[in-house]
Amino acid sequence: MSAELEREIRRRRAFAIISHPDAGKTTMTEKLLLFGGAIQLAGAVKAKKSQQSARSDWMSIEKERGISVSTAVMSFEYRDLALNLLDTPGHNDFSEDTFRTLTAVDSVLMVIDAAKGVETQTRRLLEVCRLKRTPVITFINKLDLDAMEPMDILDNLEKELGMQTTPFTWPIGMGPDFKGVYDLRDKTVNFYLAAARGRRNEREILHTLDGPEAEELLGKHRKQLVDEIELLQGAASPWDETAFLRGQLTPVFFGSALNNFGVKELLDCFCDLAPPPQPRETLARIVMPEEEKFSGFVFKIQANMDKNHRDRMAFLRVCSGTFRRGMKIVHVRTGKELQVRNAMTFLARGRSIVEEAYPGDIIGIPNHGTIRIADTFTEGEVLQFTGVPSFAPELFRRVRLRDPMKAKQLQKGLEQVCEEGAAQLFRPLIGSDYIVGALGALQFEVIEARLRDEYTVDAAFEGMALQVCRWVSFDKPELRRTFENAYTKDLFQDGAGNLCLLTETRFRAEYIAEKNPGVRLTTTVELH
Ligand code: G4P
Repeated sequence: MSAELEREIRRRRAFAIISHPDAGKTTMTEKLLLFGGAIQLAGAVKAKKSQQSARSDWMSIEKERGISVSTAVMSFEYRDLALNLLDTPGHNDFSEDTFRTLTAVDSVLMVIDAAKGVETQTRRLLEVCRLKRTPVITFINKLDLDAMEPMDILDNLEKELGMQTTPFTWPIGMGPDFKGVYDLRDKTVNFYLAAARGRRNEREILHTLDGPEAEELLGKHRKQLVDEIELLQGAASPWDETAFLRGQLTPVFFGSALNNFGVKELLDCFCDLAPPPQPRETLARIVMPEEEKFSGFVFKIQANMDKNHRDRMAFLRVCSGTFRRGMKIVHVRTGKELQVRNAMTFLARGRSIVEEAYPGDIIGIPNHGTIRIADTFTEGEVLQFTGVPSFAPELFRRVRLRDPMKAKQLQKGLEQVCEEGAAQLFRPLIGSDYIVGALGALQFEVIEARLRDEYTVDAAFEGMALQVCRWVSFDKPELRRTFENAYTKDLFQDGAGNLCLLTETRFRAEYIAEKNPGVRLTTTVELH
């Protein structure tokens, strides 16, 4: 292995921030970018969120709604590390892309609202992390507002997420009475001084909890803190790095992202704890990042990044070796060789051409629809990375074509748009309907707008009672025919031709699974 490759791997961290909407993901992103010097002004990310700068103006619907539909990647440097932050749309209308992004990271930062504890979206995202055993670092946000008792928050995390927790810091007071946090490892108090928005606050530190200074500065909180620290020694899980790296235990930090309090401590600790690029499984073997030969997989396709070029961008996570501008790589699914001169890298301020990329980096490869999600690229070896799944949609709509003359365009448009992976196309075993399934309602609007703009098709979506999708597989192939005959009306094919069962209730899916031993119904399917 070259020393350069080894050094670059060691300093890379690919991670995502997950949270429920409004818990503070955007605010946290902004503070991290500030620390990384990637943006100069607080408010830049927020401004992007509300006014939509040219950079995220990828689709007109983003502008109309003032929200970000696209998952962006932002790279920045902090200390001697190269951090790649993969953004996961956190609003209600998130899509499969949000989930799939988590297959391309090595760790996750979870932001929780201290008043609300674990909320639905966090729970769903964390399920994916657990499947991949991704290490999770937790930040309990908004301590400057009234919050749940910190012990109750830990309890809530453990119960809701099935993870052990080890607090690294501990809050002193909350809301208007928020005094600061106690660093349980350094045994120091960091005092909270509400900062002007975005500016780094000056910190005051107290090195002991004994003596008159502590009494004076902490007042009634001193005794409570001493008691809580004692309680934690028995109640909290001791730090266990192996359990953390397996995704079974999460270190917990408290603070206020908006006031930039506790964020630097979190980031520093993140840099120390979060793992560098990890080995990745393929159908044939495990690929180590330090292998000399380049390899990577596509986890996301984004259309219309550049209106003038009508291009699609395939986001590829580098898994091994070094990518160099102009190198020839093989698109394993098609066997075609590709010379890539115009791959993109994404910085907070814009994108630029990649000269070199290393494991843990995300590069964008412009293409005209030839690249699909889960495609593998190598220097020639036939490999297929696994673990890039399709997730069962939860909302289903029937497509109604207003102009019957446009049936061909409709089919082409639906197939192409769904191939990008934010929604899924289903066809019934009998009948000719098109049914689109998605995780968030916004996807239907996106598709409707794109069919109109890009394919000149006037189509609408009709609501359906379907809510549950399960992919069907059989222990023995001969079971298939009987099953298809028994449940013809419930069976569909997805875009890749896989058999799916769509039902109105989870109960019915479970009932069918129970009645048919040897038939497996799953909520995800591997894409390859
Ligand atoms: P999201 O990306 O997870 O959806 O959350 P975002 O960062 O947009 O934060 C949601 C709201 O919570 C924002 O207020 C933000 O300013 C606020 N917030 C984030 N962190 C903290 C914190 O530590 N303390 C307090 N008090 N508030 C916090 P907003 O009113 O929706 O937007 P804006 O008026 O600030 O632009």
